[in-house]
Amino acid sequence: MPLALEQIRKMRGGAQSHLMRCADGYYVVKFQNNPQGARILANELLGTRLAARLGLPTPETAVIEVRDDLIDDTDDLVIELGRGRARCHSGLQFGSRYPGPPAEMVVYDFLPDEQLRQTANLSDFCGMLVFDKWTCNTNGRQAIFYRSPGESCYWAVMIDQGFCFNACEWNFPDAPLRGIYARHRVYESVRGMDSFEPWLTRVEERMDDSVTGEIAGDIPPDWYGLDMDALERMLDQLQRRRTRVRDLIVQAWKSSAQPFPNWK
Ligand SMILES: Nc1ncnc2c1ncn2[C@@H]1O[C@H](COP(=O)(O)OP(=O)(O)OP(=O)(O)O)[C@@H](O)[C@H]1O
Ligand SMILES: [Mg+2]
Repeated sequence: MPLALEQIRKMRGGAQSHLMRCADGYYVVKFQNNPQGARILANELLGTRLAARLGLPTPETAVIEVRDDLIDDTDDLVIELGRGRARCHSGLQFGSRYPGPPAEMVVYDFLPDEQLRQTANLSDFCGMLVFDKWTCNTNGRQAIFYRSPGESCYWAVMIDQGFCFNACEWNFPDAPLRGIYARHRVYESVRGMDSFEPWLTRVEERMDDSVTGEIAGDIPPDWYGLDMDALERMLDQLQRRRTRVRDLIVQAWKSSAQPFPNWK
C-alpha cells in the first residue's frame, strides 16, 4: 500500500482530489471526506478495476495511506465546504495513478476534434459504454488524453468511476443517455451491436460473482461505512444486470440524441 509523501497540487472537480507524490510514483488522490461522499472511493476502486478486467484502458489504482503528519504539514490538504473548510482525513484513500512523471507529461481533459481524431484507441469508448451501462454510471463518461514523448498519437485513459452504481445511492436508475461521452464523434465507428464486442460478451460470460467479489474484497470497509449488506445487495444487482447491457445499448441507439450516427 503506497504511502503519500507530498501534496503537489489540487485537481479540478467535485471530489476535490489532490495530485500527490507517493512512495511508488504519482497519484490523483480522492479523500474519504470528499464532498461527494466516501462511497465514491469504493466506486472508483471497484469500477476502475472491473473496467480493467474487461480490457479497457484505465489508470492503475491503489489504496493510498495518508498520515496525519503530512496533513498537519500541508496547508492545502483541506476540503472546501459551503461554509469554511475541513482538514482532509488521514488513513486510507483512493489513488488513480498519473500516467507518467507530471513534470514531463501533459495530460488533457478534452481534445479538439483534430487531436481527438489522432487518438489511437477511440474504439475503447465503445467498450467503456458497455461498462458504463452495466454499472449505471450516472455521470457522463470522462477520459484523459496524453501523448508519450516522441509519439504522434494520443491515448485515452478512462477516469472517474465515482458515479458508477449511481454514486452513493448504490442503485441503478437507467436512462438512455447515461454514461455516453459528450463528444459523439468517438462513436463514429459504431455500425451495430458488434461494435461493442469483445466487451459485451466479456460482461455476459466472464464477470461472475467470483470476479466482482474478489475486487470488492479489496475495498477498505470504511469507504462504505462497514455496511457489508449494502455492498452485497449492490453486487447482487450488478450480477443480475449482466444480461441487460444489450438492451440498454439499444435504448441509447434509439434515443433522439442519436449518439451513434452511423448505426442505421
Ligand atoms: N489517473 C489520472 N491521471 C491524470 N489525471 C487525472 C487522473 N485522474 C484524475 N485526473 C485529473 O483530475 C481531475 C479530477 O478527477 P475526477 O474527474 O476523477 O474527479 P471528480 O472530482 O470526481 O470530478 P467531477 O467533478 O467530474 O466529478 C480530472 O479532471 C483529471 O484532470
Ligand atoms: Mg470527474
